[in-house]
Amino acid sequence: MHPLLLEWLKVVYNHNTICVFDNKKYSLFILCLIMLIPTDKNRTDCFYCQDIVKEEKNYPIRIGKYSSEGLVNRCLWHSKFQCSECKGFFHFSFLYWCPTANQIICGKCNKPTLYPTKFWNKTYAYAFDCKICEEPHFDLLYAEYTGKHPWQINTKKLYKEENALIPIVQIRFPWEPIWKPADLRKGKEITVEEALKADNIIHSYRKQSGNVTFHSDVFADEKIDLSDTRDRWEKASHTFMQYYDNIEDKGDGNRRLIIDPALWKQMGEIKGLRILDAGCGNGYLARELARKGAKVVGIDFSKNFIGFCRKKEKEESLGCEFHIGSLTNMTMFESESFDMVVSNIVMVDVQDYKATFKEISRILKPEGRFIWSNLHPVFGSNNQIFFRLPFDTPRNEEKLFILIDRYFDSGGLLVSWAKNKPVWQFHRTLQEYTQALFGAGFLIREIIEPKPVLEDLKDNPRSLAFDSDRRPIFIIYDCVKKNVESLHPLLLEGLEVQVGNDMLKW
Ligand SMILES: C[S@@+](CC[C@H](N)C(=O)[O-])C[C@H]1O[C@@H](n2cnc3c(N)ncnc32)[C@H](O)[C@@H]1O
Ligand SMILES: [Zn+2]
Ligand SMILES: [Zn+2]
Ligand SMILES: [Zn+2]
Repeated sequence: MHPLLLEWLKVVYNHNTICVFDNKKYSLFILCLIMLIPTDKNRTDCFYCQDIVKEEKNYPIRIGKYSSEGLVNRCLWHSKFQCSECKGFFHFSFLYWCPTANQIICGKCNKPTLYPTKFWNKTYAYAFDCKICEEPHFDLLYAEYTGKHPWQINTKKLYKEENALIPIVQIRFPWEPIWKPADLRKGKEITVEEALKADNIIHSYRKQSGNVTFHSDVFADEKIDLSDTRDRWEKASHTFMQYYDNIEDKGDGNRRLIIDPALWKQMGEIKGLRILDAGCGNGYLARELARKGAKVVGIDFSKNFIGFCRKKEKEESLGCEFHIGSLTNMTMFESESFDMVVSNIVMVDVQDYKATFKEISRILKPEGRFIWSNLHPVFGSNNQIFFRLPFDTPRNEEKLFILIDRYFDSGGLLVSWAKNKPVWQFHRTLQEYTQALFGAGFLIREIIEPKPVLEDLKDNPRSLAFDSDRRPIFIIYDCVKKNVESLHPLLLEGLEVQVGNDMLKW
């Protein structure tokens, strides 16, 4: 229906419907006139202006023609701006303006904190401690609410509307997702070059749209060899060590706040136990185990990582021993020589997880424990994204839900988490992992989906509190090497369980 016609009908109805409609000629005349007025068919109101007007009746709704991320169109005020420091383009809520410097700075260059305040339909603003004038500033949405937006103050030329540094992003409607539905990809084989190309596209996409994670196409396992997975880790090891800020040698935020508290709880008393840290990386966990009184051995196939671990051992003399080698073939260790094997976010990087489970089972004493954390195969895999509306928003309430796809696509993906060259990551289904564990003679005692302790999250509200308490990114499998004959046969009905070399059929 023509919008003016609708308006007219509303007026007519409110005044005296019957009277006007009784006069047929008059009504028809007005109707014809209205139909002659052209409609602005292409007008799409700004997503944010529409939101604000619900709270503030006189707010001027602007046309959303400048920038669109995802499904929404936005006006200039609510678009993206360029950070004066890093030159990146960011969502207006993730930027602040410093009047002294007349600069717009992004939340990556200066990490914000959450400032609880009720304004429009929001419950918090982003607060920034300005490094230039040392005054506190707020994000551009709150600045606008409080009348401190640069365009409201209007005294500084640089950020006047007409010369705003805003990329005119082509309006994409309907939204064109980068990934394809699973059935379109079935049977498709891609080359390494194609995957890398896809990875690049995804990276540039990530740059545009914040933290949206997509991955490249899945590779069949046979196409990836162990030496390539190792070489890639070797190259990525430096970035890994830098990226995971080892605050007090305790691992990155995910480890400190989410995974490790659950791991320690599961391990219980470890004093005097001989423990292998399988895929030890920079060895922070191995050292922590040793500090708690365990006899620790670490293994990793990357020379750089083990070099770092040995250097640290020289400095600290914790009695840790480190080996370079693949988890798939740990000939340096005798059978039944460990009380416990711990492995922290490693299996996702190991191509031959079945061989690895068997090796771990071999070196464990009977009833020995195998406790390992991994990316959650459903919620923590690269096959999921938070659907944000719009895509580039930093605001948590605009993360609407999670999209999960390709769950059954078991195989390798090229993934990078910082600026590192991509490493292979392997996605497996829950069923594949559990069957492989049974196949290697393990029983699962418990599965833990670790949640952050809210108390710990005060300093990390955006990246951790709101995301990891919505869904588990990680999963911990607490397993025990156990003779399956001790189990109730019903539990294993129909399963083929391999114990050593004997195939037992139940
Ligand atoms: C995500 S990192 C985790 C490192 C460490 N556990 C931590 O929590 O910081 C994965 C590690 O697994 C190692 N890795 C991957 N595949 C391996 C294999 N087949 N044999 C030995 N190490 C492997 C990598 O070199 C890397 O150090
Ligand atoms: Zn707007
Ligand atoms: Zn910046
Ligand atoms: Zn300032």
